[in-house]
Amino acid sequence: MSPTLTSPIPELLDPKADGAAGDGAIQVQEQSAGSGEHAKSASKKIVAESCLSIIILGASGDLAKKKTFPALFHLYCQGFLPSHQVKLFGYARSKLIEEDFHRRIGGHLADSGKYPADLVTKFLELSTYISGAYDDDDSFRKLDKIISDYEAGKDEPPRRLFYLALPPSVYPLVAGMIHKNCMNKRGWTRIVIEKPFGKDLKSSEELSDQLGSLFSEEQLYRIDHYLGKEIVQNLLVMRFANRFFVPLWNRDNIANVQIVFRENFGTDGRGGYFDEYGIIRDIIQNHLMQVLCLVAMEKPLSLSPEHVRDEKVKVLQAIQPIQDSEVVIGQYEGYRDDPTVSDESLTPTFASVVLRIHNERWDGVPFILKAGKALDTRKAEIRVQFKDVPGDIFKCKKQGRNEFVMRLQPSEAMYMKLTVKQPGLEMSATQSELDLSYRQRYQDVVIPEAYERLILDTIRGDQQHFVRRDELQLSWEVFTPLLERIEAGKIPVIPYKQGSRGPPEADKLAVEQGYVRTHGYIWIPPSLKD
Ligand code: NDP
Ligand code: BG6
Repeated sequence: MSPTLTSPIPELLDPKADGAAGDGAIQVQEQSAGSGEHAKSASKKIVAESCLSIIILGASGDLAKKKTFPALFHLYCQGFLPSHQVKLFGYARSKLIEEDFHRRIGGHLADSGKYPADLVTKFLELSTYISGAYDDDDSFRKLDKIISDYEAGKDEPPRRLFYLALPPSVYPLVAGMIHKNCMNKRGWTRIVIEKPFGKDLKSSEELSDQLGSLFSEEQLYRIDHYLGKEIVQNLLVMRFANRFFVPLWNRDNIANVQIVFRENFGTDGRGGYFDEYGIIRDIIQNHLMQVLCLVAMEKPLSLSPEHVRDEKVKVLQAIQPIQDSEVVIGQYEGYRDDPTVSDESLTPTFASVVLRIHNERWDGVPFILKAGKALDTRKAEIRVQFKDVPGDIFKCKKQGRNEFVMRLQPSEAMYMKLTVKQPGLEMSATQSELDLSYRQRYQDVVIPEAYERLILDTIRGDQQHFVRRDELQLSWEVFTPLLERIEAGKIPVIPYKQGSRGPPEADKLAVEQGYVRTHGYIWIPPSLKD
């Protein structure tokens, strides 16, 4: 886990500090809110002394502008990328002059207003832009020369991090060019790639083979940004550091688990990409499956990346084939109005899929993975619903069940829905909650963006929060047959209204799986109560 980050001082790091941690070690803090001192000591642990080149390929694109550079900027502001050690190289085909490039990425950096404006200028001074083709050896040799010039004269082995912010169709080509022309001869070379990693089992395996023939698994960092979210990173701590959960987290006590992603906007200019992929490939096969693994896995031997990922793999291996009767898919009305979407498109923008894990802990417990675009709210959460208390003497069964909810976003929170005595003279039971709302509890702590943590992990060489090849393969094995049936038109795509909960059939499916909706009570985030 990343340390608590508070100090916006770019040069606070000791250049002689120790190098990569890479052991997945959690840094335990005695106090909940961080201090400058905490940040300083933690920083020393993770920053190596040699120079670091971060090369963003596809630097003219949307991801680079909205996510990658802002994350790098935040790391810079917090002292993790000191200017005497780091250089950023943007690379793309667009013929941008450096000022244009700086204007393009600079516009998004000051957005949060978290850091003083002069840091934007200093950060941009570290970033340069190189225009070149993705299939041209000369352009990559030129890139290599520019990086080598920067590295020249430095004693310690330099480090090269290539971030492919590019359409997946060009990954193999670009990876080949890097391998042929830009490998670091003295220190490490790492390659970060973005989802989607293929469209199905076959194409994903082809991509893995292509990349695997050039780079070792240790050099490849497959980003799933859900693994960088605060509450997702808290899952293992919650589950394995609290005695409460040890005896409860199993089929004897848990009735069902829902992992839900909702967005209150449509495909928003990404219709062309989305129409080729659909919600299952965009959200469920990767983001929600990764979360499922962390919810369902056994305790790893240690927090080493391999131990954690070994346990996730075992969950994936135990997932049974998906039944069509346990799937609801839908498309929001108006989706096809997007000119980049086909008029006949049957691509689902909503899906609810029941997964069953055939092992001793989870046999019989449905895991409902639900994701949708253009719905009524924006929300992502894990909802674990417990079974009824046997022999209900309070006659409160109808009010609802105990639930443990982990709210990933917005407003990170964890709350437990409980039955308590209604305060007053009467002896009656009512629903309430134990509430850990982060904004209230950790008022001075800035929760880092997922991309910030994950980029920092790549620099540290910590692969715990990245997807290993076998995880990817197994996840595609689960979803490819379903995707084939959907594409063959064997499962009806139900239209739903924008701003709705999605097809009512999905709520019906949850009820059929034993989910009991709470009536007459709703958890209200404290931020909305004020
Ligand atoms: P873009 O479509 O913006 O592409 C990035 C850059 O790649 C473009 O600026 C362009 O640069 C180059 N490019 C575009 N199309 C092609 C092509 N057909 N052949 C060669 N080069 C091309 O993508 P994004 O920035 O949105 O996404 C990059 C990666 O990140 C993708 O894999 C995407 O799936 C993933 N991703 C994106 C997210 C987002 O929010 N945008 C979220 C999660 C993942 P130039 O022409 O200048 O070379
Ligand atoms: C991306 C998907 O991976 O995640 C998008 O391609 C989606 O469609 C996005 O909007 C959601 O990310 P977050 O962090 O806002 O939940």
